[in-house]
Amino acid sequence: MKTSRRKFLTSISLLAAGIAMPISAFSFSSNKEKLKIVLVGTGIRGTGFWGKRLVDEFSDILEFVGLCDINPGRLKYAKSYMGVSCPTFVDFEKMILETKPDLVIVTTKDSTHHEFVIKGLDMGCDVLTEKPLTTDETKCQAILDAERRSNKNLIVGFNYRWSPYNTKIKELLRSNSIGKITSVDFHWYLNTYHGASYFRRWHGQRESGGTLWVHKATHHFDLLNWWIDSDPSEVFAYGDLEHYGENGPFRGDNCRTCTHKNDCDYYWDITKNEHLTKLYADNEKYDGYIRDNCLFRKEINIYDKMSAQVKYKNNVVLNYSLTTYSPFEGWRVAFNGTEGRIEAWLDIPYQKNETVNQAEMHAKEMNQKLEEEAKFEPIIVHKLWKDYDVENVAFERGGHGGGDKRLHDKIFKTPNEADEYDRAAGVRDGAMSVLIGIAARKSIESGEPIKIAELTDLEPRAKRIQ
Ligand SMILES: NC(=O)c1ccc[n+]([C@@H]2O[C@H](COP(=O)([O-])OP(=O)(O)OC[C@H]3O[C@@H](n4cnc5c(N)ncnc54)[C@H](O)[C@@H]3O)[C@@H](O)[C@H]2O)c1
Repeated sequence: MKTSRRKFLTSISLLAAGIAMPISAFSFSSNKEKLKIVLVGTGIRGTGFWGKRLVDEFSDILEFVGLCDINPGRLKYAKSYMGVSCPTFVDFEKMILETKPDLVIVTTKDSTHHEFVIKGLDMGCDVLTEKPLTTDETKCQAILDAERRSNKNLIVGFNYRWSPYNTKIKELLRSNSIGKITSVDFHWYLNTYHGASYFRRWHGQRESGGTLWVHKATHHFDLLNWWIDSDPSEVFAYGDLEHYGENGPFRGDNCRTCTHKNDCDYYWDITKNEHLTKLYADNEKYDGYIRDNCLFRKEINIYDKMSAQVKYKNNVVLNYSLTTYSPFEGWRVAFNGTEGRIEAWLDIPYQKNETVNQAEMHAKEMNQKLEEEAKFEPIIVHKLWKDYDVENVAFERGGHGGGDKRLHDKIFKTPNEADEYDRAAGVRDGAMSVLIGIAARKSIESGEPIKIAELTDLEPRAKRIQ
């Protein structure tokens, strides 16, 4: 089987070195032909991180040659917001045929990723997709098959691996600071701003986002697979919807027109944000996509409380939970090993003497240009029979803990630099992380543990491979 990550990075490395490429003769040098990129899915992530940021930071080495979306109004706004002059399309295949790109970036809603990943590869392009790779095991197998029959490259944009705090945890585990890992506790708390945001839009429907077991937890399972350095083999899970959806005391069509504005703690005025208004509200007439939907609407069919046990092929046992209506946003992880324990956490307010504005915190996390003071966050390494050590790690909040910009730099600026932490993710990583969430869903539905090997033809391994 091909090793996608290496394959992708090799091709980009060759670009950086100015060597003629199978995909076309271009290089990252500004006076030669640039990397030709198309983007499908001109929503907030596509136009921002994979759109305007690439234009602002990397225009000397790449150019957008096409944008595609099903919503023509959003496409028009996306083009002006990103500051590009390329043509726009509502038909993906037409875009590929007419623009002949080197690289397709996929930032559509999750349930449609497979369509553009597979078509992109089959039509002779390298593909970079946002997480999650896909939302069910059948689509996952179809992507695996497409990647194998293609001589092109597929990369999954797992940004969390690239934050310095998460990288430090990897370094501590890899250097055997606590011996062999035996079990892990990982708990993620989404607050009532960030958590609620998923219930306002398509993420609230399992047929669009695969539930937060896939949409959100793919980030966490990818980190865990990478940290534990093994593949998951079996999953048992519980989950329920007890806070959002039909549990709400009242409901309206959307926040703008709601008669419960004054009674609803979740009331959110999208019109206060010009960018979001232009991107979504102004273009509702084309596709009926309501960005400020009622999070108490009855159609919500995802879980808001999730808990799983995952057994890894190397015998590590993981206890995982995801909460979506916490008063604060933060997370904790602890690794038990044969020679000690590592504890790490971010943003647990009671462990700091500072008051955090939860609404501001969510905005900062999404901000790609945040100017920040240097901050340090602790990781505890506690060896058996010894006193504990505190490792203070430089921390950034903007752009997903500093992961976003480092991922860009790796892909577009320094692809040929060796990465000792093995952070670039390919199709196998993308698949293994969504398969845990897919298995968790199936476990809740069946009441049985689910074996990862039964979902696709990927065979879990005790030691992860790319
Ligand atoms: N890595 C991260 O931290 C991170 C952060 C945010 C979003 N994401 C991912 O980015 C993707 C986009 O998320 P978003 O928040 O920008 O969503 P969004 O709803 O703002 O954007 C999705 C866009 O896709 C378009 N679309 C939907 N179906 C389509 C189709 N069949 N063909 C063409 N266009 C289609 C929609 O019209 C919309 O413009 C998701 O997969 C999400 O998981 C990743």
